[in-house]
Amino acid sequence: MTTILVIGSGAMGRQIGMAAAVAGFTTTVRDVDPGAVTAAETDMRGWLDGRVAKGRLSAEQAADAGGRIRFTTELEEPAAHADLVIEAATEKLDVKRAIFTDLDRLTPDHAILATNSSTLGSSAVADATGRPDRVCNLHFFNPALVMRAVENVRNEHTSDETVATVSAVVRALGKSPVLLTREVPGFVANRLLAAVRNEALELYADGVASFEDIDVAARDALGHPMGPFELMDLVGIDVSYLIRQAAFEQSGDPQDLPHPLVTAKYEAGEYGRKTGKGWYDHD
Ligand SMILES: NC(=O)c1ccc[n+]([C@@H]2O[C@H](COP(=O)([O-])OP(=O)(O)OC[C@H]3O[C@@H](n4cnc5c(N)ncnc54)[C@H](O)[C@@H]3O)[C@@H](O)[C@H]2O)c1
Repeated sequence: MTTILVIGSGAMGRQIGMAAAVAGFTTTVRDVDPGAVTAAETDMRGWLDGRVAKGRLSAEQAADAGGRIRFTTELEEPAAHADLVIEAATEKLDVKRAIFTDLDRLTPDHAILATNSSTLGSSAVADATGRPDRVCNLHFFNPALVMRAVENVRNEHTSDETVATVSAVVRALGKSPVLLTREVPGFVANRLLAAVRNEALELYADGVASFEDIDVAARDALGHPMGPFELMDLVGIDVSYLIRQAAFEQSGDPQDLPHPLVTAKYEAGEYGRKTGKGWYDHD
């Protein structure tokens, strides 16, 4: 495993690509949108310069990493040399299935095809390929250059060899693999997060404590870097709402519906930092 192809140069793909290049992998980041390619490349130069300015990378290490990565709209040539593909394209099933069909045709037989999807298990794309044993989820967290855990989720056909190879790559990236033996909605980390968020909302709705004090408990008793209400404001209350709404539409289980307090904020357009008001005022 020396050559990685990342599909999609958006928020996740560009950072996964940069992490791979810094770790020594020959890396290509491919996007269909030339604007996204240019933006990702500019972002990478700025990030590498910042690392050098902070003394985290030498000028030589930054130059080497920059030399190992390219951003492009081309697919055929980089796919022909890929050992591992990490797909981080738009979260739409038809888009992802078309990508996996192309990758199956264009990559060498030994190549592993992984999806970074947060909501789609790799079984949803594995059958678009002739190699379901070499398909899995490789789920990075945002921002991928900073967050160390990567969830490696098996589908029912993923081979032990694929799991072992992908885990070794994750360690080579300086990150910690979290192996899931099967696909469950939300995987592990986001389920833990959702459980804390739900409990926080219930405690607040029951009048047990203010939302500010619940955040204090999460920070100063549990050591979380921020409380669940602060985190909702950061990520976007609209995002929390839409994820739960999508989960409900998939399962039909009323337990999956957004919490009424989240729905009220969503309907009031109070999304958090992005709108200046959520749980907190951000003006
Ligand atoms: N944003 C997050 O916090 C986060 C965290 C973990 C995982 N993910 C997952 O990562 C994936 C990407 O999310 P994102 O936030 O980076 O999205 P994004 O919208 O920032 O970027 C997606 C990119 O994919 C490109 N794209 C679309 N079709 C393509 C194709 N056929 N070939 C190549 N590129 C194509 C788009 O042009 C866009 O630049 C999604 O599957 C998402 O579930 C996101």
